[in-house]
Amino acid sequence: MTSELWKTFEDHFPKVVQALSSPDGKHAGNGITWSYERIKEVLEYNVPFGKRTRGLTVVSSFKLLMGNCSQEELEIALSVGWAVEILQASFLVADDVMDQSQTRRGQLCWFRKPGIGLQAINDSMILESCVFSILRLFCRKKSFYADLVDLFHQVILNTEMGQSLDMLTSEQPTLDLKEFTPDRYAAMIKYKTAYYSFYLPVAVAMYMAGISDAESHEQSCSILCKIGSLFQIQDDYLDLYGDPAVTGKIGTDIEESKCSWLVIEALKRVTDEQCKVLETCYGQKDPEKVQAVKDLYRNLELEAAFKQFEEVTYNDICSEVEGIANSSIPKEIYLNLLKKIYKRQK
Ligand code: FPP
Ligand code: MG
Repeated sequence: MTSELWKTFEDHFPKVVQALSSPDGKHAGNGITWSYERIKEVLEYNVPFGKRTRGLTVVSSFKLLMGNCSQEELEIALSVGWAVEILQASFLVADDVMDQSQTRRGQLCWFRKPGIGLQAINDSMILESCVFSILRLFCRKKSFYADLVDLFHQVILNTEMGQSLDMLTSEQPTLDLKEFTPDRYAAMIKYKTAYYSFYLPVAVAMYMAGISDAESHEQSCSILCKIGSLFQIQDDYLDLYGDPAVTGKIGTDIEESKCSWLVIEALKRVTDEQCKVLETCYGQKDPEKVQAVKDLYRNLELEAAFKQFEEVTYNDICSEVEGIANSSIPKEIYLNLLKKIYKRQK
């Protein structure tokens, strides 16, 4: 990723905000002006401060697929790249309410800002609607418009289904460790993270570049969901072992009884006695109980287990990519993403 592309992407954001927060003829009038100002405020607080991997992936993949593209095509790719970033912001605003998080991207979670609270739910829905406004505003006349609208709808549903699996273990009155199965975990991370974070940005670029056949999309989806699952496993690791000054967020997975990679791996390794520690301490706010879970993870050497898993999985996916015989898209797209996430700290 060149810093030039980063800058081009960054410079495009105000144009997207302007387009989304300007009253059009139908909705003009003094009464509704406040809502447009609110959209601007929600966008400017929640969208710009992430790593931008997803949005930039749309643009860099599109450029790789096209070789050359016109200024108009580039502008569309930049706008749709921001649509993916806005979708991410919509999920995160809602996710932080559900996970009762404190900070996101180094600042207070939106719902924790004085005067926001549960209005954040509506703001999350506004952000989701902005995604479709961007598609309408920037590509309604394009041949790939219907494919993009359909793709975003499918991926949003997948993410919501994954999020319901995520919430399943955290909303129980009593802890039932039988709910924490590797199968459910694999489905959860694929649905809640991999589709929207990895398949979506590349698929968007493919449709915009005229690649719409099912076979190409299935092949990309399969490999990108593997990369995306590794990314969520890293997220679970960083929830506990990451540095909040670097990740910009404070983990809540133990307190919130999340079906995290760490607890799944712990369950594979515990003795009956150690399992009792999990039964009595997992999913509770009491700092001593949280510490008991952390101590158990240390005794089970889960940090080292993660590092080994990350290395093996990274190498496995790289080999799988190298071995694809008829890749419909440049392998660079997958390999660049893998390189970008390997050993990430945030
Ligand atoms: C983060 O996982 C999970 C997501 C970003 C998916 C959230 C999905 C929803 C909230 C569905 C709601 C749908 C709409 C349209 C608003 P995590 O909590 O493990 O990650 P974190 O460590 O970054 O919090
Ligand atoms: Mg969360």
